[in-house]
Amino acid sequence: PRTVTRGQSGALTVGGVDVTQIAQQHGTPAYIFDEADFRARCKAFKEAFGGAEVYYAGKAFIATAIVKILVEEGLSLDVCTGGELAVALRGGMPPERIGLHGNNKSVEELATAVEHNVGRIIVDSLDEIDRLTQIAIRTGKRPKVMVRVTVGVEAHTHEFIATAHEDQKFGFSLAGGAAAEAIDKILADGVLDLRGLHSHIGSQIFDASGFEVAARRLLTLQARVSEVHGRELPEMDLGGGFGIAYTTQDEPADPRDLAGDLLRIVKQECAALHLSVPHLSVEPGRAIVGPAMFTLYEVGTVKDVDGIRTYVSVDGGMSDNIRTALYDAAYSATVAGRASSEPPILARVVGKHCESGDIVVKDEFLPADVKAGDLLAVPGTGAYCRSMASNYNHVPRPPVVAVVDGESRVIVRRETVDDLLRLDVG
Ligand code: LLP
Repeated sequence: PRTVTRGQSGALTVGGVDVTQIAQQHGTPAYIFDEADFRARCKAFKEAFGGAEVYYAGKAFIATAIVKILVEEGLSLDVCTGGELAVALRGGMPPERIGLHGNNKSVEELATAVEHNVGRIIVDSLDEIDRLTQIAIRTGKRPKVMVRVTVGVEAHTHEFIATAHEDQKFGFSLAGGAAAEAIDKILADGVLDLRGLHSHIGSQIFDASGFEVAARRLLTLQARVSEVHGRELPEMDLGGGFGIAYTTQDEPADPRDLAGDLLRIVKQECAALHLSVPHLSVEPGRAIVGPAMFTLYEVGTVKDVDGIRTYVSVDGGMSDNIRTALYDAAYSATVAGRASSEPPILARVVGKHCESGDIVVKDEFLPADVKAGDLLAVPGTGAYCRSMASNYNHVPRPPVVAVVDGESRVIVRRETVDDLLRLDVG
């Protein structure tokens, strides 16, 4: 995060607070949220995309305090379950600025969204269109919907997080004609208010070309809609997926460059197809919250294994960051509580869980004097770490501590073993 520096003591400071003080006050492990950095990223996306709507993707990390900041920064919010919707409403996000996603929304989730006049429901199947149509008829409302289109782009990212190739569960296939069929059905029924088309090609994507192809394909479909139905759909959503740097080897695009390229392509293509330029929206999650947090751990044991490498065990692990085990994601780590001039040694940062795949950082050079009691910071854990955290081995989930202007405050409290025992009703 941008407010992290090494203070005079050699310890990291964030938002003007020394990490040793944060650890003393809040304990470890903890996710440390750099509020100024998060706000700056919200602003950067809004500025880069100009008049376009920026929906922050809540699945990356959502909490009431986050929603309040989004409201203040003028962002909208993408949610994908009733649970995320509840946090959005609790945080005071105006319902018209919420978009509801999901490939299998329940009747209850859809009904709650309709009841609260959620701004956009992104429909994902014919079953769902039927369900939503029934709810609309029953309540006399006219929900605004977008059709999620699978545009057939092979995004260059991990298979589990790529979402626009044909063989997967999300959206209506463009090539197979399902997207056109869904649009025709919605327009023929006339119950739902079809605002536009939606595409999300995947996550942790570095180059703009996939988004450009997606935009072109959506606009071609849009041109067909105007031909067949004699009307243009006023909006288009290009989803999220903008990549971030997890290590020094990653080189993400600046959102301004991405936005500039995308907006230019959309304008060109609209001119060529004789369409008006639709009102655009995007849904960045990772690119806004990912770099704005780091995880602060305490080292418990250091073990040199046969001169191959040193295993540095921390007081968390795959329960607070599953991404290394699940996606082979790369992270870095640094001794946070002090400076060291010792030479670097090859280390693997591992957790406290009972399996050998419990790795937080696969390969990292740490100072040779790394030892029990050291604080270790793992940057870039804002997205999909707390939100994907588990209670594996009955390990309580860490808190999220927001730091800004020399003050720290808990925005999500630490779970306790008592919290876990309360769910276990015997
Ligand atoms: N919009 C839609 C419809 C999405 O499905 C997603 C992410 C986003 C926006 C936000 O994508 P972002 O800008 O954050 O990349 N757990 C995985 C990532 C899963 C992404 C799911 N959808 C990970 O840890 O890498």
